[in-house]
Amino acid sequence: MSDQNIAKKKAGEYAATLIEPGMTIGIGTGSTVYFFIQALAKKIQEGLIIKGVPTSKQTQELATELNIPLVDLNNVDQLDITVDGADEIDPQLQLIKGGGGALLQEKIVAAASKRMIVIADESKYVQTLGKFPLPVEVIDFGWKHTMKHLQQLGCERIVLRKKDDKIFVSDHGHYILDCYFQQIKDAAQLHHQINNIAGVAENGLFINIATSAVIAYKDGSIKEIN
Ligand code: A5P
Repeated sequence: MSDQNIAKKKAGEYAATLIEPGMTIGIGTGSTVYFFIQALAKKIQEGLIIKGVPTSKQTQELATELNIPLVDLNNVDQLDITVDGADEIDPQLQLIKGGGGALLQEKIVAAASKRMIVIADESKYVQTLGKFPLPVEVIDFGWKHTMKHLQQLGCERIVLRKKDDKIFVSDHGHYILDCYFQQIKDAAQLHHQINNIAGVAENGLFINIATSAVIAYKDGSIKEIN
């Protein structure tokens, strides 16, 4: 296993220790959360009783395979905690998410939670967001016009996401535009500006949502940011 995967595993396993009996939890998406899900499934096998709300079809399938009990978000008042990964995390716990294309459902689930813990290896921790292209989920109808409005916000380059040479379609039937800002000076303002554009379903900036981050380093140490 690569050093990066060892760190991801460490962060995922650490987050699993924070899950207490009786909790209803949001279960994130991605290669770091994969390790959290594996550790959680093991705890459930050993007797832990929890319920989960998945943040994507991918997570739903994995959780079902591992016998993690799932519940519809509409049947839950508030989630106790959501554990999810991120593409970038800054010291104020602002995030860029959506590298895996699940940002819309991830944000709905995190926003329905009392706490959101972000788990990541050290490569995700940055001083300023923006090097990772910001994913913006857009309605397919007239997407080129939505892209023109996004360009006016100072984005260097915008790429329509593709997978295997076909347009990538999200779990909710939308397209994703990856926006290369390089440096996002005011993430909260940009978040509002993007979500005000007609045709935008959601963007990958998570502002005032994450409550802590667990960053795992190659040397085996873990740093918690609150
Ligand atoms: C999925 O849409 C994303 O928001 C992921 O949570 C994020 O890309 C982190 O994924 P990794 O843990 O695979 O890097």
